[in-house]
Amino acid sequence: MAVAVVVCVTGAGGFIGSWIVKLLLARGYAVRGTSRRADDPKNAHLWALDGAAERLTMVSVDLLDRPSLRAAFAGCHGVIHTASPMHDTPEEIIEPVITGTLNVVEVAADAGVRRVVLSSTIGTMYMDPRRDPDSPLDDSCWSDLDYCKNTKNWYCYAKTIAERRAWEVARERGLDMAVVIPVVVLGELLQPGMNTSTKHILKYLTGEAKTYVNESHAYVHVGDAAEAHVRVLEAPGASGRRYVCAERTLHRGELCRILAGLFPEYPIPTRCRDEINPPKKGYKFTNQPLKDLGIKFTPVHEYLFEAVKSLEDKGFIKKTSNTKELQSQSSPPQSSPASKLMSKL
Ligand SMILES: NC(=O)c1ccc[n+]([C@@H]2O[C@H](COP(=O)([O-])OP(=O)(O)OC[C@H]3O[C@@H](n4cnc5c(N)ncnc54)[C@H](OP(=O)(O)O)[C@@H]3O)[C@@H](O)[C@H]2O)c1
Repeated sequence: MAVAVVVCVTGAGGFIGSWIVKLLLARGYAVRGTSRRADDPKNAHLWALDGAAERLTMVSVDLLDRPSLRAAFAGCHGVIHTASPMHDTPEEIIEPVITGTLNVVEVAADAGVRRVVLSSTIGTMYMDPRRDPDSPLDDSCWSDLDYCKNTKNWYCYAKTIAERRAWEVARERGLDMAVVIPVVVLGELLQPGMNTSTKHILKYLTGEAKTYVNESHAYVHVGDAAEAHVRVLEAPGASGRRYVCAERTLHRGELCRILAGLFPEYPIPTRCRDEINPPKKGYKFTNQPLKDLGIKFTPVHEYLFEAVKSLEDKGFIKKTSNTKELQSQSSPPQSSPASKLMSKL
């Protein structure tokens, strides 16, 4: 029997990490997942994935402790680095994001890993006040560090420094590296707990947010984000590239209207907090490079539907009996409020 190729996934039990583990196992890889505490009950869901009993191992890793990374990466063909805090508390984020990412890259180079794929963020690209709003973001765009600092966007600040330094080290060390740049990632939660990007919609379902903000963001399905990491790991020509992983940009009002069309029983806000200014436009982007690698981006109404169903199933919101069922996997019913709305987007 052929020996399975080993891929290490840091932050394996997280929102995107869990989907990456699921996909890697489905494709026959042996997965070495890392967590700060491998036996943490929050990682238990990974053991229920198909192939986990045969091909998953979990190891405890502290991103600031190189020996623990060395043990995790030994013998690995690939490393997908997703582990990261996701908040804006500078004293808790700078070290694990910047030093942690550099440790991953250095140790992967020492260990002879064939390819490293980093999960970066669109926050490393669009935070620049001098950016031309009509030019799509591409792999040449970088956020302005002073702007991130002055606006206290410490997550974007740390991730931008981390990714830039990772590229420098990868070049110095001759390490084969590629980067996936997700936007707001939504969809079914495999993990038992809440994650930052799902909170983005939770507040609109619970009634906590009475209005929506005048902002636009880009969104993507969690399964597509996971597939992007795996395809970028596998594609021979992906080395040295930054792949924007986004399906579409929506104003928050449009997002709320789609949610309300799919789930009219929830108290989803209908008014913008800012009723004076015109709707703010989001950044433009191109996802063609990932399409060229074979990603077919799932439409937004599907991953919003999956996200809400998942929140209901896990008890984060109260399930209601009159929730609509999506009639087809690929498109909403043509007469539904959601489909009328979708056709306007
Ligand atoms: N979700 C999004 O919308 C989105 C968008 C753009 C980019 N990203 C990037 O995608 C990656 C995964 O995001 P996600 O949504 O899957 O996040 P997540 O669900 O919070 O998972 C990230 C994992 O990182 C580990 N982690 C958290 N804080 C840490 C710390 N201080 N030190 C070391 N490890 C820590 C945790 O694993 P343990 O507790 O098991 O150690 C956690 O499960 C991140 O790099 C994030 O920046 C996410």
